[in-house]
Amino acid sequence: MRKIVLLLAATLLSLAGMAQPHQLDISLKKAGAPIPSTLYGIFFEDINYAADGGLYAELVKNRSFEFPNDALQGWKAFGKVEVRNDGPFARNPHYVRLSNPGHPHKWTGLDNEGFFGIGVQEGAAYRFSVWARVPDGGKSMLRIELANTASMGENHFLCQDTLTVTGKEWKKYQLIIHPDQTLEKSILRIFLVGDRATTDLEHVSLFPVDTWMGHENGLRKDLAQALYDLHPGIFRFPGGCIVEGTDLQTRYNWKNSVGPVENRPLNENRWEYTFPLRFYPDYYQSYGLGFYEFFQLSEEIGSEPLPILSCGLACQFQNENANAHCPLDELQPFIQDALDLIEFANGPVDSPWGKVRAEMGHPAPFNMKYIGIGNEQWDATYPEHLEPFLKAIRNAHPEIKVVGTSGPDSEGKQFDYLWPEMKRLKADLVDEHFYRPYNWFLSQGARYDNYDRKGPKVFAGEYACHAKGKKWNHFYASLLEAAFMTGIERNADVVEMATYAPLFAHVEGWQWRPDLIWYDNLRSFRTVSWHVQQLYGQYRGSNCLNLTMNGAPVTGAEGQDGLFASAVLDGNKIYVKVVNTTEKEQDITLNFTGLKKKALVKAVTGVRLSSCEGKLYKDNSLDQATLFQPAAFTFEGEGKCISASAPAYSFSIYVLEK
Ligand code: AHR
Repeated sequence: MRKIVLLLAATLLSLAGMAQPHQLDISLKKAGAPIPSTLYGIFFEDINYAADGGLYAELVKNRSFEFPNDALQGWKAFGKVEVRNDGPFARNPHYVRLSNPGHPHKWTGLDNEGFFGIGVQEGAAYRFSVWARVPDGGKSMLRIELANTASMGENHFLCQDTLTVTGKEWKKYQLIIHPDQTLEKSILRIFLVGDRATTDLEHVSLFPVDTWMGHENGLRKDLAQALYDLHPGIFRFPGGCIVEGTDLQTRYNWKNSVGPVENRPLNENRWEYTFPLRFYPDYYQSYGLGFYEFFQLSEEIGSEPLPILSCGLACQFQNENANAHCPLDELQPFIQDALDLIEFANGPVDSPWGKVRAEMGHPAPFNMKYIGIGNEQWDATYPEHLEPFLKAIRNAHPEIKVVGTSGPDSEGKQFDYLWPEMKRLKADLVDEHFYRPYNWFLSQGARYDNYDRKGPKVFAGEYACHAKGKKWNHFYASLLEAAFMTGIERNADVVEMATYAPLFAHVEGWQWRPDLIWYDNLRSFRTVSWHVQQLYGQYRGSNCLNLTMNGAPVTGAEGQDGLFASAVLDGNKIYVKVVNTTEKEQDITLNFTGLKKKALVKAVTGVRLSSCEGKLYKDNSLDQATLFQPAAFTFEGEGKCISASAPAYSFSIYVLEK
């Protein structure tokens, strides 16, 4: 009888020319596949000044005088300054010698320009530190300043202090300074004062005292907080292409990124020169944010760590010559790097690498469960390189899940070749990458519906909507990411993790966009894509629920009016996610099936990200950091069928209770 009434109502509505509500059928008969805690995560790569000049809170550029083209790059020397190379840290041997300029009215010293300037806040505490000695013995004095050289005032400095250096031995000195102004682009200035005794300086450093979790070699608080607030289940690091290197010498070498920071050797950053139209000749990796810090951050933000290591292939985009890569019979050191990393993360404190971890301050294991081997690799050479890694890791650490890759493309020749290869090799997960335009995202809602449930799991390891002609962050692109993610959620039995990329970008130092979080030296903002990721993380739920419209999953398919939807269970709560990618508001009914006769579902609340026509291609910005934010909304109803609406260009989460 009820069916007849509904049918009659539908016929009347359609006769009257009115749009019928879309009925979303959500089955509560049984909880579907469990949703992995790792499903929504983050991808970190040192691109766009994400590490030095970004998340890593060091404010001094080229602190160890190791930049290879010019040991004083980033510095302005005045008076008598000499660069020497027999310093106390074997892997960073350069340092500077400051000597008497030879006239009482002249000065010797150095300015450091920082990364796009040194951003400081009025009244905040900054820790200046330096390794120093007086080579001839006795003592010397340094004046340390933060300065504004553009100031029209009587003096340049924002704060000033003096440091006394004593004796011939290298020692670490430090001062806490408090600038009296907020300034985005100050400089650090060091003067030799007093008797101007010859003084040697190495590893000149300046950090805010108030870092994330207060670590001395710490992270910028607002940026780390933006990661924490995502509650990411998985944390992939350190990239991306920098894992591979333009050549194998410059690949990310995790062993160089641990131990005392003063002795972590500098590495080139390939994003310095990858795009000559946005060229950054001062972009290097200090490794100050290294693997210990990555593991520690994973723990602090509650994520599973997922390190990716080189498989012995240098970046294949940049190297056609086979000689650029490591031959198979010389792969052992690379394999050993992977085994040693597992020991560094998980080994006992009396194992060689477990000891390094313990000495750095973390005797307890980091409990790493995953490792990725290779980034965007392709051709037969990749499975050939991966296979010996798999054998060695399986043999020594059967508990570790290994992630392989399907190459740089979301489909096509290499993708079609590599997926079966990953199955043959029994990789645990396959890393897929897709930076794709609107149409691709609109057409891929059902991408994972027919993936083989018996093969490796999917790690959607790098993705973002890159609009043709609009390759910047904007609402509409993020909305399509939200739409696509309904398909990830619906297929949580085969997709184990997904990470948007890249994560960070400095507004003055980017090479690649869109990105998830932007900043200058003092401020940061979270993009609409960040909010999409955050909402998925917050409303992850515990199990998938079957949701269909006219018997089919809601994937933006023809006849579905640009709607995408998925649903999950979380205890007695139900989260229904609906993305309306069109310009018209659409009425929907949430129709719950599989309930016991008298059982009801009740609307609780909703949260929504939405936009209007004029703002579709805009995003948050440094000046309008909260232009787009999710807003709570109410919808009402109790029963088996609840009416709601999906406004134009919106991503809504309907929270209900059973
Ligand atoms: O995320 C930026 C780059 O995109 C990554 O380094 C690489 O893996 C991909 O090509």
